[in-house]
Amino acid sequence: MAVTIRKVGVIGSGQMGHGIAHVAALAGFDVVLSDVSADRVKSALATINGHLQRQVAKGTLTEEARKAALARIVPADTFDGFADCDLVIETAVEKEEVKRKIFHDVCAVLKPEAIVASDTSSISITRLAAATDRPEKFIGIHFMNPVPVMELVELIRGIATNDETFDAARTFVGKLGKQVAVSEDFPAFIVNRILLPMINEAIYTLYEGVGNVEAIDAAMKLGAHHPMGPLELADFIGLDTCLSIMQVLHEGLADSKYRPCPLLVKYVEAGWLGRKTQRGFYDYRGDKPVPTR
Ligand code: CAA
Repeated sequence: MAVTIRKVGVIGSGQMGHGIAHVAALAGFDVVLSDVSADRVKSALATINGHLQRQVAKGTLTEEARKAALARIVPADTFDGFADCDLVIETAVEKEEVKRKIFHDVCAVLKPEAIVASDTSSISITRLAAATDRPEKFIGIHFMNPVPVMELVELIRGIATNDETFDAARTFVGKLGKQVAVSEDFPAFIVNRILLPMINEAIYTLYEGVGNVEAIDAAMKLGAHHPMGPLELADFIGLDTCLSIMQVLHEGLADSKYRPCPLLVKYVEAGWLGRKTQRGFYDYRGDKPVPTR
């Protein structure tokens, strides 16, 4: 029997988590949002409100709909707030041990029929599912950034994911107004398997001195009609996330063509993680982004 999803728990209120909470609330789902601190959830709610207000200003959303959507998102200090969720989506950092601990803790309070999903951009769904008490009710629901804008969601079945779970996830994604691409459970799935080696190659192009930051981004924006240059996009995704995806590809497929560029490693070691830390391939601390190389 198909599972009906009404209430959605979102674990992690970073750029993916708040984006998912935003689109789910707009689509009429009740949302519970949690993070490691109440302050982070508070700031995520302010960001969501800012995006909703922009939609109102543009005339694509009414003021009543903005208020109603925001009222549907309830912050939770502990996982106890997730007890009556029909679906829980984890959007924590791309660290397997962190995700495993979250699944262990949240499954303890969830109702038995609740579906558990990860928004991981690269980690094996089958392996994450095995860390839960319900591998048949576990699925990968991978959103793209910025969630309110991007049309695609990847759905990834683990080896044990049952048809009811897959169908419920597909229906949920459809209600958000997004298209589904079904991916097999292989490292980095479809989008990142193709996108991240391109970004990594752009970083090698910089590292080897073929072009500077501006030239590389201009080349791909104007020469290939990409909406953002690859280095600008890397900063947008987060350089730590880019590195962890390349590491998953490198280790998971054991092919040297996926080796992370040493310059990417250096930026991450410096804590220059892109927009979220105000510095990456560009410095965002001034009025305009300035290339850092
Ligand atoms: N949240 C909500 N809405 C946003 C937003 C955000 N963070 N950023 C932009 N928008 C909205 C704007 O409000 C605007 O809406 P309208 O069309 O209603 O006016 C629209 O997006 C376009 O924004 P802008 O005019 O400000 O800027 P733009 O035209 O330069 O577009 C962009 C911005 C949509 C981000 C565009 O540059 C783009 O598509 N970039 C590529 C993004 C991409 O490749 N994402 C995938 C990353 S990979 C991934 O996510 C997977 C992973 O696991 C790493």
